[in-house]
Amino acid sequence: MNQKTAIVTGGTSGLGYATARKLCEVGYRCYVVGRNAEKTQKSCAEMGPNARPVVLDLTQLDQIPGAIEAIAGEAGRIDVLVNNAGINMKKGFLEVTDADFHSIIHTNLQSVFSISREVARVMQGHAGASIVNISSMAAQYGLPYVIAYSASKTAIEGMTRAMAVELAPMKIRVNCVAPGFIKTPMTARALDSDPARKSRVFARTPMGEMGLPEDIADAVVFLASDQARYITGVVLPVDGGNSIGF
Ligand code: NAI
Repeated sequence: MNQKTAIVTGGTSGLGYATARKLCEVGYRCYVVGRNAEKTQKSCAEMGPNARPVVLDLTQLDQIPGAIEAIAGEAGRIDVLVNNAGINMKKGFLEVTDADFHSIIHTNLQSVFSISREVARVMQGHAGASIVNISSMAAQYGLPYVIAYSASKTAIEGMTRAMAVELAPMKIRVNCVAPGFIKTPMTARALDSDPARKSRVFARTPMGEMGLPEDIADAVVFLASDQARYITGVVLPVDGGNSIGF
């Protein structure tokens, strides 16, 4: 009951994996949400005894309240929620179907709202509670071929500010990390097939290299911690300068 508790969605790969592993390392009990039971168990085994698997498809909104109730019942508290799970789809604007658009919004935005509401109900009134959302460069400037993704991530930033204001009286801080181009399976899929896009990424990144998942984990863990106790409603780019690059 004395151990701080965190939940990381999409914690079995990429940025979520690095973040969950870091939270375990610094002493949180960390519930790692993944869709695939075997992969989620394996990730938790790698992270050590502080990691707990939660098999949940976040698009199944009706299953979210029960999952959060089970975590709160077992851990006795929830201190941190990291809304990391997300999907992308690279397709020309004219080719995107309504179903495509809806599926991205459903995962990247609707499920973030639903899980945040359930977790906030548990967190309310407990000092030190914090939610960290994950946005993207797609919310900082116009990126072609990712219309639904851009819409979802821009909405995440607006929702971060609205949540920060409404949840502050409940002692819950809400912030957002906007990763630049970070080496993960998602960026490999998006960039390896498109060398022109890849060279453009490097051209406008002043630090001249892609980030590592650990760079995002460090920023998320800071925003979640008491060291950030007076920070709420911010969007922190962790991007090697990509969002301000010429
Ligand atoms: P990834 O594809 O490696 O990981 C995403 C995770 O979310 C996967 O584990 C996946 O299984 C999980 N997930 C997806 N839908 C889910 C669902 N319905 N229920 C449960 N889990 C689900 O991607 P990556 O790169 O680690 O991305 C993580 C977050 O960071 C995403 O929100 C992404 O939009 C964001 N991001 C990533 C950037 C990058 O450079 N890698 C840049 C900007 C933002």
